[in-house]
Amino acid sequence: MDNNQLFFDFQSSTPCSTKVVEEMAPYWNELWGNPSSINNRSGVYASAAVEVSREKIASYLNINPKRLIFTSGATESNNLALVGHARAKARQVGKPGNIITVSTEHHSVLDPLRQLQKEGFSLSELQPNKDGLINIEKLSEAVEEDTFLVSVMAANNEIGVLQPISEIGSFCHRKGIAFHTDAAQSLGYLDLDPDKLLIDLMSLSAHKIYGPKGIGALVIREGLPLEPSQYGGGQELGLRSGTLPVPLIVGFAKAVEITNNDQAERNKRLLFFRNLLLSGLKKNISELIVNGSVDQRLPHNLNITFPGVKGSQLHGQLRRFIFCTSGSACSNGEASHVLQEIGVCKKDAEASIRMSIGRNTTEKDIKKAIEIITNIVINLRE
Ligand SMILES: Cc1ncc(COP(=O)(O)O)c(C=O)c1O
Repeated sequence: MDNNQLFFDFQSSTPCSTKVVEEMAPYWNELWGNPSSINNRSGVYASAAVEVSREKIASYLNINPKRLIFTSGATESNNLALVGHARAKARQVGKPGNIITVSTEHHSVLDPLRQLQKEGFSLSELQPNKDGLINIEKLSEAVEEDTFLVSVMAANNEIGVLQPISEIGSFCHRKGIAFHTDAAQSLGYLDLDPDKLLIDLMSLSAHKIYGPKGIGALVIREGLPLEPSQYGGGQELGLRSGTLPVPLIVGFAKAVEITNNDQAERNKRLLFFRNLLLSGLKKNISELIVNGSVDQRLPHNLNITFPGVKGSQLHGQLRRFIFCTSGSACSNGEASHVLQEIGVCKKDAEASIRMSIGRNTTEKDIKKAIEIITNIVINLRE
């Protein structure tokens, strides 16, 4: 990383915490056994480490550890949840049915659903309101006789808005529809008890909470039909075969433990910094638009449009001083589909920035960012 560049992109990923790295260390070449080979001591240690980690994460989520399936991250969890449940359900009822989602979901939800569409499932994509949120009336109107699955993310990765997950969960529960939520961005920021929120399937990722990359989990509801994502040695209840990455799992559990220890206090600090950033920018720059609801939002996210500025120039100049994005890390540099879906035109979507604040961001960083952004936007407008 360039030390002179301010980093404001902690929603794309976070650095692996030193304590997490330390916790993982022995599992690379000391306790390196295969957790499925418990006929030798090294395998027993590995298996115990996996199960202790599973229990730690499950306890944080207030669920039975058996409901936690380790995957490579939220992308795989979303695929397993959506494709796995849809195919299993279609086999059960004899035909593909209807699935409802939101047009501002991450591509790791939208793309598997569009693949299912090609297999004969019908897909209804709800368009959120201008504030990025959907309401239950819209969801209710979209329900068809054969709707069997609803997928709505807990927190949006670009505009940070928090969907009414608990209301959606109750609605789906009443209707007998399975409810999946992509919680990659909300783990560590929101309380995610799937039983309280009536979530049937929940996708998680470790690298958004200062854990390692390449590990995540899918929380399942016992008894919900699910087709495996890959076949082989039958690990993870046969839903996700393959030798488990013990160091990554241990690191994931440590990251959850750390996140749990300071969640409330950290959220308060992040919110204070976010508000400082927003008020500073508002004070200095006229005609600035905040994208997405300000109230129903992750504490560390800000997404702003600067009308009258050319996106390529804005990002070209910002890049030299501040690392932030115009949208998702997985958007391949295209204008944000999320912003366009909430009514922002392509030109303004390009002239927008997503800033996300991290655990170690300081007040000095915030003030410096305000100064840099102000100068660049004012210069470009002249
Ligand atoms: C909302 C959301 N879902 C899914 C993912 C993909 O997660 P992973 O990198 O763990 O596959 C991301 C990562 O950017 C995300 O923000």
